[in-house]
Amino acid sequence: MIKDIKTSGNHISFWSNSEQAQEYHPLRKDIHTDVVIVGAGITGLSIGYMLAKRGHGVVILDDGLPGSGETGRTTAHLVTALDDRYRHIEHLHGAEKAQLAAESHREAINLIEEIIKKEQIHCDFERVSGYLFRHASDEPDALEKELEAAIRAGVDVQMVDSLPGLPSENKALEFGRQAQFHIGKYINGLCRALEKHGAKIYTSTHAKKISHEGVETEESFVVKSNHIVVATNTPVNNRFVIHTKQTPYRTYVIAAKIEKGVLPKALWWDTGDQSSANTAKPYHYVRIQELDQTHDLLISGGEDHITGVIDNNVPEENRYMALEKWTRERFPIREVSYHWSGQVMETMDALAFIGRNPMDKDNVYIATGDSGNGMTHATIAAMLIPDLIEGKANPWEKLYDPGRFKLFAAGGNFIRDNMGVLTELFRGYTHHPDLQSFREVKKEEGKIVEVNGEKYGAYRDDSGNLHIVTAICPHMKCVVKWNNDEDSWDCPCHGSRFTIDGKVVNGPANENLQYFHYPLEKF
Ligand SMILES: Cc1cc2nc3c(=O)[nH]c(=O)nc-3n(C[C@H](O)[C@H](O)[C@H](O)COP(=O)(O)OP(=O)(O)OC[C@H]3O[C@@H](n4cnc5c(N)ncnc54)[C@H](O)[C@@H]3O)c2cc1C
Ligand code: FES
Repeated sequence: MIKDIKTSGNHISFWSNSEQAQEYHPLRKDIHTDVVIVGAGITGLSIGYMLAKRGHGVVILDDGLPGSGETGRTTAHLVTALDDRYRHIEHLHGAEKAQLAAESHREAINLIEEIIKKEQIHCDFERVSGYLFRHASDEPDALEKELEAAIRAGVDVQMVDSLPGLPSENKALEFGRQAQFHIGKYINGLCRALEKHGAKIYTSTHAKKISHEGVETEESFVVKSNHIVVATNTPVNNRFVIHTKQTPYRTYVIAAKIEKGVLPKALWWDTGDQSSANTAKPYHYVRIQELDQTHDLLISGGEDHITGVIDNNVPEENRYMALEKWTRERFPIREVSYHWSGQVMETMDALAFIGRNPMDKDNVYIATGDSGNGMTHATIAAMLIPDLIEGKANPWEKLYDPGRFKLFAAGGNFIRDNMGVLTELFRGYTHHPDLQSFREVKKEEGKIVEVNGEKYGAYRDDSGNLHIVTAICPHMKCVVKWNNDEDSWDCPCHGSRFTIDGKVVNGPANENLQYFHYPLEKF
């Protein structure tokens, strides 16, 4: 049994429960380094690894543990079959850039494989094929169109008339040389390799102030550095620009036992629900992970929606039922052993933001907007950001430039997503509370309560004690919403999330909500 699991929600993923995360000392003195990296998810650790190997002094800070953010809640498909689809990327960026995008993800999978071999990381890495099949809502020739665009982008792909495990589908796109691994084991391997190459990692260390000169921690220790990389999934140092260009989505996962050998190791995805009004069409993603002598786990994900926004009247905690139903209808699963959710950032134009932080000094870098392809985007960042730091040309610099702006090319859906944000910002001032009194909050319920003109988020635990937080998100003042699945206060504007006691677990907010604890007798 793994102890003291730190993670950004209530539910524990299979990865966190099967591999103990590495813990380091918090930073307790002022230091100087060449590059400071905030965030020890796959992005920060991969960038740190490549920099340390290239001879740079590297310090990595994380206020949790390595992999305790969204990395520990992933499903770890490593793909060139990009979830924003080549048709869409080619439409927005042209054929040449679609080729560059394909190349960057291919190189990223190769680099992960190379690191695993070189550093002898035993993380169940396997090359597998991936199968994309049509969602019932999609155009009849959706696969043919995607095949043509993917071939133009130089992807290893072909149409097949059957696919493993899904006899009802009579065609699919088969993507060659995809891969999968156990993310917890990979993260621990990266940490060991970083130590070997002289990098320093500090955990339980919150970066409170980040500037072009370095970082100041919550405890007022300073890391002075020549270069600053913010790898906090959504950048906590960028207040505005980036957050108008991407939307946070919650996505859901179940992991169910399946008899060993019933299905080959492979990746499966459908093309997504085209009837959804959201920019990112919710799609299903499935893989197999080894479990024990008799069973594997079938890990199935999907049912995405914009964070804090309940679409189709299905609250967060009920999403797993739909996911399980969809999975059982297709795959011979037994009991569900794990379920968890996580957050992905979808950019307006289907490409990540990796590079210099817009409207900042040239030595401050960010990596965000990784969509459902964050494992490879992290690894692309590990090839791109070190080149930028060293002043070397990189073929993907322009492609992933965080300063690019394609709002109108991105089209109506993205603008609609963002109109939602403007509405929420406005509602921050006019928002009607759920209740007028703390007494009305029932057990295991979270509500917005207005008292003396101030809005609070109030959650009553199963013993009857009240946990109250200020309801106004410190990022840009939207009102947070209760997520009854992960027991968190989620901001519908840009995806900041807070625990029951107000601790920030997802940016862009970088401060906690004020917390008040009242025993049962008080209310
Ligand atoms: C359910 C789910 C399924 C997914 N499936 C896939 C998949 O199959 N394939 C794929 O490629 N991608 C997938 N993704 C996406 C991928 O997992 C993520 O994009 C990726 O893990 C993000 O890594 P990161 O390092 O950027 O962020 P994180 O892992 O979130 O790391 C950021 C770190 O920064 C730390 N931090 C934040 N603020 C501060 C601060 N102020 N001071 C100090 N530390 C701070 C946090 O503690 C955290 O550890 C999935 C995501 C989810 C949620
Ligand atoms: S995340 Fe931006 S206002 Fe809350």
